[in-house]
Amino acid sequence: MKIGTPKEILKDERRVAMTPQSALALKKLGYDCFIEAGAGIAARFPDEAYRDAGVTVVPSAADLWALSDVVAKIRPLEPVEVGMTRSGQIVMSLLYPGQNAELLEALNARCVTALALDMVPRISRAQKMDVLSSMANLAGYRAVVEACNHFDRFMTGQITAAGKMPPAKVLVIGAGVAGLAAIGTAVSLGAVTYAFDVRPEVAEQIESMGAEFVFLEFEQTQDSTVTGGYAAPSSPEFQAKQLARLRGLAPEIDIVITTALIPGRAAPKLWTRDMVDAMKPGSVIVDLAAERGGNCELTVPEQAIETVNGVRIIGFTDFPSRMAAQASTLYATNVRHMMDDLTPARDGIAFVNMEDDVIRGATVTRQGEITFPPPPPKVQAIARAAPNRTPVESVQEKAAREDAQRKVAGKRQTWMLLAGVIVTLLVGATAPPAFMQHFMVFVLAVFVGFHVIWNVSHSLHTPLMAITNAISSIVVLGALLQVGSSDLIVGSLAALSILMASINIFGGFLVTRRMLAMFNKS
Ligand code: NAI
Repeated sequence: MKIGTPKEILKDERRVAMTPQSALALKKLGYDCFIEAGAGIAARFPDEAYRDAGVTVVPSAADLWALSDVVAKIRPLEPVEVGMTRSGQIVMSLLYPGQNAELLEALNARCVTALALDMVPRISRAQKMDVLSSMANLAGYRAVVEACNHFDRFMTGQITAAGKMPPAKVLVIGAGVAGLAAIGTAVSLGAVTYAFDVRPEVAEQIESMGAEFVFLEFEQTQDSTVTGGYAAPSSPEFQAKQLARLRGLAPEIDIVITTALIPGRAAPKLWTRDMVDAMKPGSVIVDLAAERGGNCELTVPEQAIETVNGVRIIGFTDFPSRMAAQASTLYATNVRHMMDDLTPARDGIAFVNMEDDVIRGATVTRQGEITFPPPPPKVQAIARAAPNRTPVESVQEKAAREDAQRKVAGKRQTWMLLAGVIVTLLVGATAPPAFMQHFMVFVLAVFVGFHVIWNVSHSLHTPLMAITNAISSIVVLGALLQVGSSDLIVGSLAALSILMASINIFGGFLVTRRMLAMFNKS
């Protein structure tokens, strides 16, 4: 089959859905690859690079649509593109079927099989095809970069001969994929970063990234694992408390990045006019939810504006396109993985298997039938996490797991104690009294040693190092008691033990120091 990618026609869209690298992978699946001339230029993939990868460059969009059996693109199809589709063709792109009923009707009327890449279900297996996550990850990063561009101060604090500069304070609202990427970027630039989300289970993730979770005291906290990894709408009481908490932060925050979203709804208004008024001149707000009305009351979609009190509000909706080369590479890789799923036999023939959860979720029209909305996937949804991050465990799940682990450990200890008593009684019944005395000391030493070693705190180095250091210390202690022995062999062995255990302890600390130096920013 032939797979083709046209040039995006939406104004200012610089991304492209096929890269020379993804084309090589598609060819391995058995496809012949085609691209419209100039489609990749804005993303810095010249036609020559495609030719080198064995892709045929086609002069016009009309030619490309006419010859392709599968068309992969990015933005939802414009009417002129719908007009170029043909019956039986497979089209994959962002389609937002929930908001684009007319487009679905039009594609269905032309008997096109349409796969909405934004509908890929949120299950672990589909993460590699999840274009929304890969684009949100870029948007989160770029939001911080864009904020820095408009912020006229350092992000990190500095002490110089010319004076002391405090670090910028960044607040990220909504810690989904985009939010976590923004937190990572802000922290790495040295800003003091705070983050807020209605899902309490993300607190641990936020803190593990070096940011501070803005805690809201409220009895009814949400558990997103019951809402498919997304937040559920908050109650009016919760909203009021949330706004009050954020309002309190407004005067001291320099940069606000808002990413809060509940799918299928308008963006919640979380940064109100009075909060903007309370901010210092020169502060910056980047509203990633601008396309859905914005989280900030004053956001103007597509524009960067400055308020009377000197706060800049950025409402761009094309952050991934502003990083076209990177965005295209990620998007094309997502498409390539989707094609992998569609080509189980790797024979260059796409098979839309409606039994496959991922394909079923994404397919919105097929053989003259509108198949949107899909049934819920058979596999349970995962909580939203940044790409390459493991899904988050809910608070209740964690408590239940720890409780179960404690019970199992308690039972195991009782059985071991019982077995120990029986063995001691059996040995005592037959062994001579002198042996029993040594045996009891040995058993107690093992017991005390085990507890001493396992309770060593590992705050400065790894758990393994803490344990080996504890063992080495006990070895040194024992050897010190024996090193003065009149027996030459005992004395020599003790001296050797002291030497080797000391090398282990001090060598370990030296290695730790070197590792810490590798991560030290200064
Ligand atoms: P996501 O669903 O992974 O994350 C949204 C987060 O907002 C979730 O953690 C959710 O719990 C949180 N949230 C919802 N309501 C909230 C509230 N009232 N208060 C605090 N937190 C709340 O979404 P993702 O993928 O991170 O996308 C975030 C936003 O970025 C979306 O609006 C998306 O459309 C937008 N986006 C914008 C781009 C641009 O160029 N401007 C590009 C890509 C994404």
